Amino acid sequence: MSNFQIAIDGPSSSGKSTVAQAIAKKLDIIYIDTGAMYRAVTLAVLQDSINVSDAERVEKKLSTLNLSFKRSDEGIQEMYLNNQNVSREIRSDVVTANVSEISAYPFVREKLVEDQRNMASTHSVVMDGRDIGTVVLPHAEYKFFLNASAKVRAKRRFDENIEKGLSNQTLEEIEESIVARDHYDSNREHSPLKKADDAIELETDHLSVEQVVNTIINHIKK
Ligand code: DC
Repeated sequence: MSNFQIAIDGPSSSGKSTVAQAIAKKLDIIYIDTGAMYRAVTLAVLQDSINVSDAERVEKKLSTLNLSFKRSDEGIQEMYLNNQNVSREIRSDVVTANVSEISAYPFVREKLVEDQRNMASTHSVVMDGRDIGTVVLPHAEYKFFLNASAKVRAKRRFDENIEKGLSNQTLEEIEESIVARDHYDSNREHSPLKKADDAIELETDHLSVEQVVNTIINHIKK
């Protein structure tokens, strides 16, 4: 079978990554977490104490960065920044608080979109993000848009933070940050978060991960 592409978009904590990873495993194809790439650029900028509003310095830093994914022995996709595994650091609160601003720069998007298209050109992939069905892979064979209420998404992120020991934020703080990020990501000038016209929308408030994965697999098999 020739290569095919699955695009999964949606707002933060809509379950995209968990669902996309499960699909990659079931179909034995590559998973690309584009949010992790925007987070890795943000981490690199913060590590150098560059002000995220300083476009010139951010652009200069970007040109020195090498982003790649490697699969761990447990089969988990890990994010590498200049050959360092940064999978954990990119989930910190400070990265989360600054990633929307970094991902709004057109020069950041241009570089990462090019990298993302290159990764998808040689393999079958499932890619998740905000602009995959609209901008990165507009000709993807399969497109999905996952959504859930801010309350449910905040609760999912809260539970995940506790499980992984990632953050001490309260449920209310997480919900506030999710609403603010939704607003920023949906209203930015370049490639805002938007459902592609030909994407299938799934409202996941009352669906388990397994149900969402099965729904998507069933669509693909049709
Ligand atoms: O999915 P996530 O929360 O890890 O994404 C982090 C940020 O990156 C999110 O606030 C918006 C941005 N992003 C983007 O602009 N385009 C993408 N394709 C993926 C993420």
